[in-house]
Amino acid sequence: MPDSIRLVTPDAQYPDDGLIEREIAGPDTVFDIYRERLPDRLPDDVLAKADGIVVWHEMVIDDAFVSRIPKCRVIVRAGVGYDHIDLAATGAAGIPVCNTPDYGTSEVADHAMALMLVLRRALVVYHEELTRDPIGQFVTGFDATHTPLVRRIRGRIFGIVGLGRIGIAAALRAKAFGMEVIAYDPYASPGLEIATGVRRIANLGDLLAVSDVVSLHCPLTPETQGMIGAEEIGLMKPDSLLINTARGGIVDVPAVIAAIEAGRLGGAGIDVLPVEPPRADDAIVETYRNLAGSPIAGRLLLTPHSAWSSPESAADARRLSFETALLYLRDGSLRNLVNEAFLVDPR
Ligand code: NAI
Repeated sequence: MPDSIRLVTPDAQYPDDGLIEREIAGPDTVFDIYRERLPDRLPDDVLAKADGIVVWHEMVIDDAFVSRIPKCRVIVRAGVGYDHIDLAATGAAGIPVCNTPDYGTSEVADHAMALMLVLRRALVVYHEELTRDPIGQFVTGFDATHTPLVRRIRGRIFGIVGLGRIGIAAALRAKAFGMEVIAYDPYASPGLEIATGVRRIANLGDLLAVSDVVSLHCPLTPETQGMIGAEEIGLMKPDSLLINTARGGIVDVPAVIAAIEAGRLGGAGIDVLPVEPPRADDAIVETYRNLAGSPIAGRLLLTPHSAWSSPESAADARRLSFETALLYLRDGSLRNLVNEAFLVDPR
């Protein structure tokens, strides 16, 4: 019987005791499953014994965390975005970091479309008014002045920032709605626009200026941090929509709210915030709390970093992340390595 493999999950996003994980791993694997956001709440002795870490999106893996996992040979992100993992610190310590990019692509693309459709078809406005009076509007007809974002979707321009897996999935969906799809992505392979039938735009400003809907699908990096601020929003059409299912730090949220309030932006659908959970005094919290009946009701839609979520995608993330960790720990094979540029002398 080989030695046990010890895997620690600091911030598990499932309620059970690792049912899927235990089935995949078999009897030689020991699990320590926590549901914490703060590293101080994890016991030192458990981290010290970990052969691998499978992390979701809530636990920050920084230098200090790395110093507490001397035996760890691999960190796997159960998900796509890894901006909360210090790639340089893990790489310098000889720990490969892998992600599981293929678990929720369709969910996030669906969610981006849902945010656009709910705003453009005014579903929340109708729903809220009908919960107050389910009969009146059927008698008198609805009041179109309450639904200023409603437009014909067909023929409008859907602008994608980041033509990767999710961006392409969103492009296919937007096309099915009869939209013209354009994309800005300085790193996408030349020819991807031909394969996907998307018009490629060489700079962000040009995409922002012509799009009726801008949907963000790039990662959070030093380059994309704060990429959409007041100046960029100023380039957008005044009745256009901004959809962010990528990462909160890409967008200046108070600038978005100010632009909607000033009539310089039609509306926004936001799944991700710069700080999660948001602080009580964040502009989005204050605005959302007072949204019903406010002048921008129906123009702002917030969801709680749930774009990825479905029972199927959660099961895939769990399965794929543990398979990835065990593949390396048992066979030395690395799948979806993301810190290659920093990795020295893998443990
Ligand atoms: P991907 O790696 O397949 O695609 C990202 C694309 O962004 C790449 O084509 C890349 O070239 C491009 N890109 C990089 N820097 C850029 C820049 N400065 N400007 C424009 N484009 C740039 O990743 P995938 O799977 O499509 O995921 C995209 C992002 O979606 C993830 O990084 C993650 O942050 C976010 N996400 C959000 C979820 C949610 O629940 N809200 C769930 C899953 C992912």
